[in-house]
Amino acid sequence: MEIIILPDPQQAALLTARIIARELRAKPALVLGLATGRTMEAVYACLVALHREQGLDFSQCSTFNLDEYIGIPAGHPGSYRSYMEAHLFRQVDLAPDRTHLPDGMAADLGAESRRYEARLQEAGGIDLQLLGLGSDGHIGFNEPLSALLSRTREKALTPATRRQNAPMFGGDPGQVPARAITMGVGTILESRRCLLLATGAEKAAILARAVEGPVTAMVTASALQLHPRCQVVVDEAAAAQLQGIEYYRWIFENEYRTGPG
Ligand code: GLP
Repeated sequence: MEIIILPDPQQAALLTARIIARELRAKPALVLGLATGRTMEAVYACLVALHREQGLDFSQCSTFNLDEYIGIPAGHPGSYRSYMEAHLFRQVDLAPDRTHLPDGMAADLGAESRRYEARLQEAGGIDLQLLGLGSDGHIGFNEPLSALLSRTREKALTPATRRQNAPMFGGDPGQVPARAITMGVGTILESRRCLLLATGAEKAAILARAVEGPVTAMVTASALQLHPRCQVVVDEAAAAQLQGIEYYRWIFENEYRTGPG
């Protein structure tokens, strides 16, 4: 795992977008795993700017989102499909039939979960998976006690997650759907490369548990410690509780090989 600490959220988002852009330029038919949440809005804004100003080409790229709420239609303003359409899909040249999210309105959610996994396999698997960090340590919607080998499936959301995501539902946690379909931790770990972005002081304690704590199903982001190619991009505020901060800085300054793109 490589920890990259940037001075502020904007610079952290910009580096994250540059890493994605670099992969996309190297492989135009990139299979890109996408995440939602407020933290990602700045990343998508940077990608849209790179598309407009530097012609970053998404026309051959396929995308697979981590998760979608159950029980609200794709056109609902709180759906992750709506989020993605607004922040990225409609603003770049992605082919609509190559943008994938689980269908949270499917009559048979088990069958939909299996279909999503099969679609991912047909596309050749995820080259680069973008990840945020939930306040309870989740990746995707893999809430505490999710099996670390889990696959795409239905999951009940914790009260903490529903509170965290309430701003998209008029501020009322009761309006946030209680369940979601999410890629499993095992699905995520099969991505060839993982890139987690976390910013802000409110993520500092959970980030330290995810990165430096034991690998545990109680903090599913900790499973990323098992991944052979995982980068974690954070701002100073989110990095504040990391014990190995000096070492991570030294590595970034002296041995950063991936390059910002
Ligand atoms: C939701 C998503 C997660 C994401 C999290 C972070 O819960 N399902 O994939 O990591 O939001 O949200 P934010 O960036 O708003 O803190």
